[in-house]
Amino acid sequence: MTDYKQHLANLQTATEAALKANDYDGLWIYSGHPENYFLDDHAPPHQVNPHFNWWIPETDISHSLLHIVPGQKPTLYLSQPADFWHKIEDRSNADWARHFDVRVIHHQSEMPTVNDQLNHAWIGDRSWQPMAAEYTNPDKLLAHLHFSRVQKTSYEIDCIQQANQLALKGHAAAAEAFYAGASEYDINAAYLQACQQSQSQMPYGNIVALNENAAVLHYQYQATDKPANHRTFLIDAGANYKGYAADITRTYAFDKNGEFNNMIAAMDRLQVELCDACVAGQDYVDLHQQAHIKIAEVLKQFNVINCSPEVALESGLSATFFPHGLGHYLGLQVHDVAGHQSNADGTVKKPPENHPFLRLTDVLRENAVITVEPGLYFIPMLLQQQRDNKHINWDKVEQFLPYGGIRIEDNVVVGQNQSRNLTRSS
Ligand code: GLY
Ligand code: MN
Ligand code: MN
Repeated sequence: MTDYKQHLANLQTATEAALKANDYDGLWIYSGHPENYFLDDHAPPHQVNPHFNWWIPETDISHSLLHIVPGQKPTLYLSQPADFWHKIEDRSNADWARHFDVRVIHHQSEMPTVNDQLNHAWIGDRSWQPMAAEYTNPDKLLAHLHFSRVQKTSYEIDCIQQANQLALKGHAAAAEAFYAGASEYDINAAYLQACQQSQSQMPYGNIVALNENAAVLHYQYQATDKPANHRTFLIDAGANYKGYAADITRTYAFDKNGEFNNMIAAMDRLQVELCDACVAGQDYVDLHQQAHIKIAEVLKQFNVINCSPEVALESGLSATFFPHGLGHYLGLQVHDVAGHQSNADGTVKKPPENHPFLRLTDVLRENAVITVEPGLYFIPMLLQQQRDNKHINWDKVEQFLPYGGIRIEDNVVVGQNQSRNLTRSS
């Protein structure tokens, strides 16, 4: 709780600075509420507004409103409706609640009047938009707050570490299920069981891919049938702790003595080197390019390509095998905010033209939490585009295509002089 209290003090300071810089006198933050599916009477699971979750360490509060006014204790209008269809937890007495002036709302009619008269801004989804457009989710205010969200407090780093600990239980169970010959569906069930979280609590849809499916970057199915042979298993799955995400990928070869297993080991080594490089001042675009060089070295070592790593990077060949970015910010959102922002004013730093999917382009700052997720894939669609490229040894490509690909992803805290790997440290 001490860390949480300090976290709230930091938020208050950061929010007051953002309001002052943008000439607002206060801020409303709406939790959001679930919206029914089109033409239906039920809704997908509630996804709380991350700005609300930044203050309130719960993910299932809806129809509630937080009011921040500089110099005052924040007020929380906490919805606790009389509802016999759902279980309504009383959160007004939770430990965290004493840091707020909590007003319990039994009916929406008890909500405070929200309008433009006070010169307070509003952050929340637009389905309930009580204020004029210029007060609702103002770009400049959001940019300022998003830039603050990048550097995590110790409370937040602890939450992401807890999420990692949960996810690692799932990863261990999933690996065991793979080596026992389970289907994607059953592996995923083992993962969730070990994390003790449901799919809807996960920070993103689990990617559970066997064999060639490992080459599909965001593979979205979980096949119930068992393939004839288990060759590769790529799992990209996280967990959630108080709304903070883990985002971890591991790749396994069934044959631990085969060449593909050696390729995974080589990728693992370069991934650790990249994690170690995540210190304050490191330009992430440079690190992404270093990752390309290292991955091209692996491609050369395993005879998949026959040109220098530098030529592979310059010619775009390395991107055939590594078509996504090295990583992204991580926090309340799995692809956390401000990845293309280089200051609090919201100046955008676009990814380089030849690396359009890079989600993080800024220079790393202390206590930012990022993912480091190099990959090496055999993607038929991208290889097809290179079919005349003489730098590719096609017999080796044919050999590796049935294995799909490799991704290894950890969650790393940027340090002043040393990075801290939340996934590999206990
Ligand atoms: N799990 C999505 C990603 O790694 O970015
Ligand atoms: Mn990721
Ligand atoms: Mn991931």
